[in-house]
Amino acid sequence: MLDAPKNRPELPPEIARRRTFAIISHPDAGKTTLTEKFLLYGGAIQMAGQVRAKGEARRTRSDFMQMEKDRGISVSASAMSFDYGQFRFNLVDTPGHSDFSEDTYRTLTAVDAAIMVIDGAKGVESQTQKLFEVCRLRDLPILTFCNKMDRESRDTFEIIDEIQEMLAIHVTPASWPIGVGRDFLGCYDMLNERLELMDRADRNRVAATIRIEGLDDPKLAEHVPAELREKLIEEVGMARELLPALDPRAVLDGHMTPIWFGSAINSFGVKELMEGIGTYAPEPQVQHAEPREIAPEEPTVAGFVFKVQANMDPKHRDRVAFVRLASGHFLRGMKLTHVRSKKPITVSSPVLFLAADRELAEEAWAGDIIGIPNHGQLRIGDTLTEGEMLKVTGIPSFAPELLKVCRAGDPMKAKHLDKALMQFAEEGAAKVFKPMMGSGFIVGVVGALQFEVLASRIELEYGLPVRFEPSQFTSARWVHGDKAAVEAFTQKNKQHMATDNDGDVVYMTRLQWDIDRVARDHPELRLSATKEMQV
Ligand code: G4P
Repeated sequence: MLDAPKNRPELPPEIARRRTFAIISHPDAGKTTLTEKFLLYGGAIQMAGQVRAKGEARRTRSDFMQMEKDRGISVSASAMSFDYGQFRFNLVDTPGHSDFSEDTYRTLTAVDAAIMVIDGAKGVESQTQKLFEVCRLRDLPILTFCNKMDRESRDTFEIIDEIQEMLAIHVTPASWPIGVGRDFLGCYDMLNERLELMDRADRNRVAATIRIEGLDDPKLAEHVPAELREKLIEEVGMARELLPALDPRAVLDGHMTPIWFGSAINSFGVKELMEGIGTYAPEPQVQHAEPREIAPEEPTVAGFVFKVQANMDPKHRDRVAFVRLASGHFLRGMKLTHVRSKKPITVSSPVLFLAADRELAEEAWAGDIIGIPNHGQLRIGDTLTEGEMLKVTGIPSFAPELLKVCRAGDPMKAKHLDKALMQFAEEGAAKVFKPMMGSGFIVGVVGALQFEVLASRIELEYGLPVRFEPSQFTSARWVHGDKAAVEAFTQKNKQHMATDNDGDVVYMTRLQWDIDRVARDHPELRLSATKEMQV
């Protein structure tokens, strides 16, 4: 296998062996199945089938969490770590629901690479495309797994062309499928001159590897019938002529994606993909921050919160802040500075999400994800350091595009609604506004499906059925300016005013005209569609 150029040769070996990535895919392409096989080969679970959950239900929340619930085993939510060969893989879960959300975007700020899973019969689907675009914004390296090759799938060249055209990225085959559907035999590993043959009798058996000296090796004929052999030789010849060769540098820059063909359910192609992640996905990368970047090899610890999850343990209402370590070697009990509040926090019970169980993290390195239980002090976008006032940048907050009024199904429980919505606002799952006039809350989200997700979570976690009703407003703008000016404006426009969960003032309207008018008539104020996550 080719050796990928390493970005940072100076990295300590413990950091250099880490690969932190997420899987992006359209629902049903096989993300859950592939995750399960990763865990299986990572030694985190003993038996395939342990973590499968069925149907739409699991997509309303994080896939990992639902797996945990359905199977009663502890595959921890949001991030899982496992070893494979010399590598430590950190797999970060992207939310499972099929709507774009801030959560998804922020998850992708915590990884150094993405695995794009597509269904061989369906090609690039809408959700894949959206997630891909998010990865592109960050120039994330992407490795592709074309799944379900055991079923009737599209022509290999057609699949590759579609990816190149729809996603505007160079595609280079890392493997080439032999036969298709019922005739699918396995793959020719184009990087290592190996033949990988799928075991149809046993789904959990890893393919037999046969080393061959190129496609004219007589050994090929022993394993591949003449017709398929001819087609394979012809196609690989064409592929080598027409498609770009693997350029590890272009992969790291996000301009080229290597594609592996396989069948996750049959454990086929997964190990090759894992080897590919080790070889071609990057080590922990430099993190953008102000006033300076953070390099992973720096001796002091720095990290940032990219996700907050409440109610992981229904018995107490603590939150877990997921922190991506940007640099250094973290040890349990360390005292870190919470940069936003400038207060020290002692991280005495950090959680490392080793897939087999949630464990106390005695240590962690740059690239790792640790969970820090807290009572709400840690917010999305917060930076933790060993004292230096650094602020990690690039963790976005999106303007809420859809607004609805949220009402408790049972008015007696309206108080709980307050609490539930505040929690989701802190998690970054929604924007919540309390209008100054009238009752109820206005909830703002980016994608329509988020309303359903919220409703089901509020019911599940707080036992409270809720309704979302149309709101008279369609836009929300944060109002910035001198305190007295903001107050005067608020008093004059009470029916348009609300506060968010931090108590900050928001102007709401249904007309762009109103927004333009405020901008024109009130030069002392500034309206913004988003609020920086960190203040
Ligand atoms: P997702 O997380 O991306 O939504 O996909 P998931 O892994 O749940 O897979 C979706 C369906 O595709 C599942 O079938 C799964 O068994 C099937 N699948 C995954 N990989 C392969 C593959 O390589 N080949 C074939 N033929 N099927 C595959 P299901 O009917 O929804 O569930 P189940 O009855 O198999 O549990």
